Amino acid sequence: MVLILLKVSAPRIYEKVAQFVEFWNLKTRMAGGRAFTAENDIHILTSGTITAVALGLDDQDCGIIQNINHLRSVQQQVVKQNGKKQETPGQTPFDFPNLPLSEQLWALHFLLDVVHKSLMSPSPKLYHMFNNLRPTMRKALALKNKLLKTQIVRAAERFSEPSDTHAPEPRTALESMIQREIAAARKARRPSKIHSEQMEEELYGYIVAGHDVTHAVVSYMTKYLAAYQNEQKTVRAALYDALAEAHTSSRQPQVNEIVNAKIPALDAYVKEVIRICTPTRFIGKEAAVDTVILGHRIPKGTMCFIQLHGPTYTEPGIPVNDTSRSDTSRKHTDIPADWADTPFAPEKFKPERWLRRRSNGEVVFDPNAGPFGSFSAGPRECFGKRLAYLELRIITALLVWNFEFLPLPSQLDSWEEDDSLLTKPTMTYVRLRKAI
Ligand code: HEM
Repeated sequence: MVLILLKVSAPRIYEKVAQFVEFWNLKTRMAGGRAFTAENDIHILTSGTITAVALGLDDQDCGIIQNINHLRSVQQQVVKQNGKKQETPGQTPFDFPNLPLSEQLWALHFLLDVVHKSLMSPSPKLYHMFNNLRPTMRKALALKNKLLKTQIVRAAERFSEPSDTHAPEPRTALESMIQREIAAARKARRPSKIHSEQMEEELYGYIVAGHDVTHAVVSYMTKYLAAYQNEQKTVRAALYDALAEAHTSSRQPQVNEIVNAKIPALDAYVKEVIRICTPTRFIGKEAAVDTVILGHRIPKGTMCFIQLHGPTYTEPGIPVNDTSRSDTSRKHTDIPADWADTPFAPEKFKPERWLRRRSNGEVVFDPNAGPFGSFSAGPRECFGKRLAYLELRIITALLVWNFEFLPLPSQLDSWEEDDSLLTKPTMTYVRLRKAI
């Protein structure tokens, strides 16, 4: 799994992020120091990376290249229009045109939006009942199903000939799922379920889970970069130092360099953004057996809501009598249980909380420096955790390498949050300057 991520997924992610850097290079030049909204751009980036990793979709479907080409074609006109619009220098955002998404991506975005809206409605069940009758909804479902079916058929072709000697290497998450299903079916002597609704649902779940949470994290990341200038400079300095040859040669760092270099400040930054924003604020689990939690009897079948943000993670913990803890919990003393018991206040944005100085003076990234619940835990923890770290490492490295995220005017810097299926910022603007 790790090998596939490094060999196959990392280059695909890098390719999309490098295209995205080109896109923002153009926007930075055109905006001339003014802020612009990044929400849609980040959607294009994160849906582009997850569909490339999951399905192997190419540039045609992702839209970054199309957006660059379109923007180049209307560049002069857009700059002229924005020149007229700037009432207060530095305060009015630069207005870029947005190309419509490809039909397939439109369908994925539309369906995601439906899930958010249903959760905000008084009765999600009724919402879906009526919404499913809308022609747009039916169109989106048909496009989504067609996309998944086509990709499954295409991927299955590579594995259709059973061969024990020359098994092809999976190139996407879908191919890896198909390969595992064929192996499981052969072992159990049952027909494979490749062309099934279950397969489509799994694949769709992977894309949705991978796209939306990463969109939320990257949105927060751009806000923290702008708001915490010193921390931003620290990451950039660490990148230029760790990838010194690329920096002195004025070239972009390559994917293998970013993935293989030891850059503790980068890992600490990524982990701190995920900790402090935690887009999935809580999860629900049903007790499979009668149990006891902190002295409270929990009967089998009880729905338990577990917070991944808040006490101990991002605010001081609620005091708990140690005697009410289970034996396993009491034995688990290797990680501090509450950030409030460390020199780093839980509510503060402090990437350095994840760094440790060894006795020989070397500073290393310490992923277990304190409590962290953003990916949940246990056998059903986030399936895409490794992919998420890899993706965020590449995105952060290339964005910070190339752009300075400048402080935003206050009216474009709201920290209000949209709290539905996920927690996301309601406003995401960036104001960029070329860093190199
Ligand atoms: C920083 C980014 C991400 C965060 C914070 C995050 C967080 C989470 C959380 C909290 C869960 C619930 C786990 C549970 O119920 O115990 C989850 C589940 C899941 N995540 Fe992520 N996730 C991220 C990125 C991704 C990515 C990139 C993928 C791509 C594959 C992904 C795929 C999934 C899947 C498939 C599940 C369902 C797992 C299951 O129920 O077995 N996630 N994620």
